[in-house]
Amino acid sequence: MNKTVLITGATRGIGKAIKQNLEKELDYTLLIPTRTELDLASMASIDAYFSEYNKIDIVINNAGINLIQSIDRIDIESLQIMQQINLYAPLKIIQHCVPYMKTKNYGRIVNLSSIWGLRSKEERTLYSMSKFGINGITKSLARELGQYNILINAICPGYVNTEMTQQNISVEEQEKIRTTIPLARFAEPNEIANLVKFLISAENSYMTGQTIVIDGGFLA
Ligand SMILES: NC(=O)c1ccc[n+]([C@@H]2O[C@H](COP(=O)([O-])OP(=O)(O)OC[C@H]3O[C@@H](n4cnc5c(N)ncnc54)[C@H](OP(=O)(O)O)[C@@H]3O)[C@@H](O)[C@H]2O)c1
Repeated sequence: MNKTVLITGATRGIGKAIKQNLEKELDYTLLIPTRTELDLASMASIDAYFSEYNKIDIVINNAGINLIQSIDRIDIESLQIMQQINLYAPLKIIQHCVPYMKTKNYGRIVNLSSIWGLRSKEERTLYSMSKFGINGITKSLARELGQYNILINAICPGYVNTEMTQQNISVEEQEKIRTTIPLARFAEPNEIANLVKFLISAENSYMTGQTIVIDGGFLA
């Protein structure tokens, strides 16, 4: 049966690869709002979007930001916007979608987390707060919603070739990091999208509550 899939942050990077990957499938109707239609920085924007779209079978919480700040530079505005976009907005989206999923006794939720949600790195305090948080949401809701056949998982990528990576890490640092990855390269967005495709497919009927690492062996 055709399923409606919401993907946030599909203009570029991993979200765009997810969109392109799922477009090839016949079984999905994709909702891919722009930031103007669904601005995760605003709870009012989220509420307005779901007053129109309220029959969603599958949610892919992909959009995210990464502000890299040392402890002496962290300010309240950065703290608030990071947690709003990476943590509160995905939770709010899930809250809007779960009532319909319960009526269907079916739902699939995938949260884009990070390896920095399992371990961390200097100056990643704000990012790690949000990604450890989304992993906690994933685990708690997997326990709460399993009885409704709503499966929820978090994907924890390592380094992926996207604008976020290019903007945050200098070319020299990227070269150094590659030498610490067993596969000696960053992931391409499509490699993350393939995992999303599996998690929401009929092939996955039993995996829920997991934080799945896809990092070329970086954390091994
Ligand atoms: N790249 C990596 O190495 C990496 C590694 C681990 C995890 N991740 C996670 O994977 C996800 C995608 O990362 P990416 O590298 O593909 O990021 P990206 O290239 O920077 O793209 C981010 C996406 O999020 C959207 N977005 C940002 N703020 C938004 C807002 N207020 N409202 C709605 N949409 C907003 C952007 O839309 P606009 O075009 O409107 O700005 C864009 O589509 C993120 O959650 C990130 O934390 C990435």
